Amino acid sequence: MKKEERIKKTFPWGTLFAARENFEFGYFTKEKELVDKYLTRPSDVLVLGSGNGREAFPIHANGHSIVCIDNVTIYLDAGRLLCKKRGIDNVTFKEMDVTQPWPFQDEAFDFIFFSIFSYIGDRRWHALQEARRVMRGAGYTLLSTATSLYPQRHPRSLHSEYLFFDNVDSIQNAVDPIGFRVLDGGVDPKRHEYLFVILARN
Ligand SMILES: C[S@@+](CC[C@H](N)C(=O)[O-])C[C@H]1O[C@@H](n2cnc3c(N)ncnc32)[C@H](O)[C@@H]1O
Repeated sequence: MKKEERIKKTFPWGTLFAARENFEFGYFTKEKELVDKYLTRPSDVLVLGSGNGREAFPIHANGHSIVCIDNVTIYLDAGRLLCKKRGIDNVTFKEMDVTQPWPFQDEAFDFIFFSIFSYIGDRRWHALQEARRVMRGAGYTLLSTATSLYPQRHPRSLHSEYLFFDNVDSIQNAVDPIGFRVLDGGVDPKRHEYLFVILARN
């Protein structure tokens, strides 16, 4: 079996996150708006479920220290290689499963990208608690979730464990018990199957 076929069979996200395209894909419209508004000074940034570094790449030159974590080694290796080739030395890739206890100290990060909340099953609540713990008091978490349009747009994806949110109020209700409030956000104006919000401590 060819290497690409083997990767596709073994990892549900396929080859996309082991390859360069995802690294250079950039931000979704709403995501970019929120990054530009809330990540305005050099910061300690954490990217959860980073793949090869899509969220890190557009901001790497802004003086941040960025930690990308993922539980699939090949995606991390691809990210390390892409950064090395470009001489990017402020982005580190670490293997970690967000559904397990996190090795980071309390309040270690100013800004957290959390794009895998919809996809990780019931342990998502543990991961969200950990995100709040490692986020600094004045920090932000950029939470990306799937809307109920997601299964129509991506019929072949594995969505039995997905959790869908169609508006900001339903996210507010879900994150309130964990100690977050939704500051800003909304459905992406071009890709309606995604919703992006900024969370702060409440
Ligand atoms: C849909 S991809 C998103 C990649 C990237 N954040 C982006 O938005 O382009 C989901 C990523 O999360 C990773 N992932 C899935 N479950 C995870 C877990 N429990 N812990 C850490 N990473 C996980 C996958 O390996 C994959 O790279």
